[in-house]
Amino acid sequence: MSTVVETDVLIVGSGPAGASAALALSTYGVPHIVVTRYASLADTPRAHITNQRTMEVLRDLGVEQDVVAQATPQHLMGDTTFCTSLAGEELGRVRSWGNDSLVQAAHDLASPTRMCDMPQHLMEPVLVDAAVARGTRLRFQTEYLSHTQDTDGVTATVRDRLRGDTYEIRAKYLIGADGGRSKVAEDAGLAMGGQMGVAGSINIVFDADLTKYTAHRPSTLYWVLAPGATVGGIGAGLVRCVRPWNEWLIVWGYDVSAGAPDLTTEYAESVVRKLVGDDDIPVTIKSSSAWTVNEMYAETYANGRVFCAGDATHRHPPSNGLGSNTSIQDSYNLAWKLKMVLDGTADPRLLDTYTAERAPIGRQIVTRANKSIGETAPIFEALDGLSPQTPEQLWANIAARRDATEAAAKQRARLREAIAFKVYEFNAHGVDLNQRYDSDAIVPDGTPDPGFPRDPELYHQPSSRPGAKLPHAWITSGTRTLSTLDTVGQGRFTLLTGIGGDAWVRAAEAQEIDIATVVIGSGQEYEDPYGDWARLSEVSDAGALLVRPDGFVAFRHASAAPDAGEAGELLTDALRRILGHA
Ligand code: FDA
Repeated sequence: MSTVVETDVLIVGSGPAGASAALALSTYGVPHIVVTRYASLADTPRAHITNQRTMEVLRDLGVEQDVVAQATPQHLMGDTTFCTSLAGEELGRVRSWGNDSLVQAAHDLASPTRMCDMPQHLMEPVLVDAAVARGTRLRFQTEYLSHTQDTDGVTATVRDRLRGDTYEIRAKYLIGADGGRSKVAEDAGLAMGGQMGVAGSINIVFDADLTKYTAHRPSTLYWVLAPGATVGGIGAGLVRCVRPWNEWLIVWGYDVSAGAPDLTTEYAESVVRKLVGDDDIPVTIKSSSAWTVNEMYAETYANGRVFCAGDATHRHPPSNGLGSNTSIQDSYNLAWKLKMVLDGTADPRLLDTYTAERAPIGRQIVTRANKSIGETAPIFEALDGLSPQTPEQLWANIAARRDATEAAAKQRARLREAIAFKVYEFNAHGVDLNQRYDSDAIVPDGTPDPGFPRDPELYHQPSSRPGAKLPHAWITSGTRTLSTLDTVGQGRFTLLTGIGGDAWVRAAEAQEIDIATVVIGSGQEYEDPYGDWARLSEVSDAGALLVRPDGFVAFRHASAAPDAGEAGELLTDALRRILGHA
């Protein structure tokens, strides 16, 4: 072992968490290296649902349109279907992922972005290509082995899997984005709650032209209730569209106590045939792999100079499509903090807010994703299909719902209700967008927490209260229409005010750090012709919002500052607290 390579940040892993950390750091000009174990990026579709918050992050990082260009658009995602097989009986549908008319309106109101279906093997190259173009140094086939840390930095030992030798990388900070079996998290001794291996699942990736069973009810997901579908796994057999309507991924459960079955092509094909229900369709199996459903979250995301992100800190099933979304959002939260600590703008204490802000979110999404699995059971219950029985009994129960009897009417109602309840998995707009932070990087404004008047999992409820993400409103600048979110980000703080807020603008311009200023109002650089911002901002025209680089409100003053001096004091004090100098 001879060479020691030096950098500011070492990132282990090139999945959604590592790739987005690299993209953000390269955008902010922070020197870093990514090491990743394999010779290529993800070679299977894995995570895919990409929610509006993630699209906002990608918009700020300049790759939103690259994702849109490759993703399956929202309108082809939404007819989540429950059936006995694709060719078999349909039991019902849920309009999903913002495709219900009311939820669609909520999506339109919430964000300038649209959710989409971007399979992981397409997402990773977009993130990594942009990161490398902006300066990321990426080492494929390089495996993290161990690390030590001292007061000045972290020394990681890595193995070059091509040459077989090991060398050291010395960094000021280490990000463990090495997935659900994170060695970095283990070596850093991050305390974890919950358990791994709750149930067993198999992914089967295959090609087949299923247009005739899917194009008339376009969806990302088709759920198949068939004998055996309740065993292990994610609650039922799942046929997932990778690319409409020729590339697919099936998720099928197995009894985790008995171990995964032998994943031969014959076995994979038998599962595909069972769920598709048409033996005449040509099928090409591309790959099969076994994985376990986990319910685990880290209590703390950091130890000293080592930070973990993504599945390294939250491990859960794919329900609600939260895996890569939360991973990308973790990295986005961490990256600007590292940048500001490394360039001396912030005290290292700012980094403590990473755990304070992201660990509660991680725990929440692990709980939600696992709860969603349990919420599939009432569909089987409505068909008396949960207890062990023969296939004939299940088919008879399913057929019985067509009868003109009181009992069948009740069964139909139970089935409708059970399917509709899956909205908590397929249309949980609040889960995607209602994140609130409570940490030392947020300055409370003394207002009581209003909580969420509506169901916080289903409904997005915007707020400008410190700790909430800046509300989206369409504003204009000359002939251009843009979102309020487009005025913030890009690695710096932004002060938003309106007519009469000159004192805030002067105070922002007088700070030692670069703060963008945005004045919204009649005759100003930005105008609010629809009055949307006035309705959403929760501050008077001359009030102020200080927004962090990640789009979260850090400080709010609802009314005008008496004069420039007081505005300066308030803003300076707020920044000192946010940046860990107080
Ligand atoms: P991720 O696991 O994506 O990336 C980890 C990275 O670290 C990889 O690049 C890996 O090579 C690297 N690495 C690991 N150890 C290393 C070491 N010692 N040294 C160097 N590099 C190392 N989610 C979902 O929502 N729907 C789905 O259908 C699926 N399906 C699915 C299938 C399979 C097979 C997997 C593995 C995962 C899924 N997921 C999923 C989960 C989803 O993929 C997951 O939530 C995100 O990929 C998490 O992103 P991360 O970047 O945190 O980890």
